[in-house]
Amino acid sequence: MQQRTLGSFQVSAIGLGCMNLSHAYGAPVAAEQGERLLLSALDAGVTLFDTATLYGFGANESLIGKVLKPHRNRFTLASKCGMQGVDVKGDGKLVRVIDGRPQTLRKTCEDSLRRLQTDVIDLYYLHRWDKSVPIEESVGALGELVRKGHIRSVGLSEVSAETLRKAHAEYPITALQTEYSLWTRNAEIAVLDTCNELGVAFVAFSPVGRGFLCGQLQDVSALDANDIRRTMPRFAAQPYAANLRLLPAYLQIAEAAGCTPAQLAIAWLLHRGDHIIPIPGTTNLSHLAEDLDAAHVTLDVATMEKLDALINQNTVIGSRYNAQSNSEVDTEEF
Ligand SMILES: NC(=O)c1ccc[n+]([C@@H]2O[C@H](COP(=O)([O-])OP(=O)(O)OC[C@H]3O[C@@H](n4cnc5c(N)ncnc54)[C@H](OP(=O)(O)O)[C@@H]3O)[C@@H](O)[C@H]2O)c1
Repeated sequence: MQQRTLGSFQVSAIGLGCMNLSHAYGAPVAAEQGERLLLSALDAGVTLFDTATLYGFGANESLIGKVLKPHRNRFTLASKCGMQGVDVKGDGKLVRVIDGRPQTLRKTCEDSLRRLQTDVIDLYYLHRWDKSVPIEESVGALGELVRKGHIRSVGLSEVSAETLRKAHAEYPITALQTEYSLWTRNAEIAVLDTCNELGVAFVAFSPVGRGFLCGQLQDVSALDANDIRRTMPRFAAQPYAANLRLLPAYLQIAEAAGCTPAQLAIAWLLHRGDHIIPIPGTTNLSHLAEDLDAAHVTLDVATMEKLDALINQNTVIGSRYNAQSNSEVDTEEF
């Protein structure tokens, strides 16, 4: 697998988003399936594994710790803090809470290290900027964790170029992780260029559009009741049906390029800049192999132009987040 630079690390050009094994798109997978998926990714040359305190309220970090501990020196481990499950009402039920206070981040890091069964996390992101805490305070606390040797570098997720600059002035940011794909172009407004200018790697999450760009997800009414796509305007029945009209032409471009639709989406990202590292997520071994093979797909300029014209902010119907989720991010939006 070709390599890309992530701060002081060289990582596989395509990393693995591990969230899907424990969180977001239906029930968590069985432990054996998660183990097989993680080890297959490692064997296939993946050296960037992406998790978070939030995913499965700790279960995803625990899975990674259990399975990948014996191989810890073979990969770059990225996790996230600042958004986690909290028993707010004291009834044993965890709810998702954004909390970027320094004392919370320090405690979360201790918990992450324990679950991940490691002495140090290579890249620790602030999962969401807690707007009630100045970004400098949260990032300053993460810088302190680097100085103490608990983490090796600091990342941010879903922030604007302005917030990235403020944070970077407080403590050098290694990576910015934000949604980016053909159908979510917000990063093109400012943060991609700002990352390039500051030497910050850009980690593209949801690179296959949470399934849309794989061409197989036709019937959104069949999604699990607790699948988070049910909360996303773009996946509501009418907008999704409108977006499906983009697919026949997209599938033709994939066929002409000699790759699958999922590979086309990932290859498009790899061609958008050397500082871009996509992290597709999957629960399925054959999807994993397919996604990783995107590293071998070459797209010519004419194909890139066709894709840009076909699927972009003007042709996709529906916003990526609902009002609540939108209020929690700090990104520039079209
Ligand atoms: N920082 C943040 O706030 C944030 C937010 C969301 C995600 N993330 C990270 O980004 C990672 C990836 O994002 P994501 O999972 O949301 O979106 P994604 O990678 O764009 O899409 C995942 C979906 O696509 C399907 N899929 C993947 N490859 C496929 C293929 N070759 N053929 C058919 N279907 C395929 C998966 O189903 P199968 O399981 O059936 O393959 C899954 O439903 C996550 O795991 C997480 O680590 C970060």
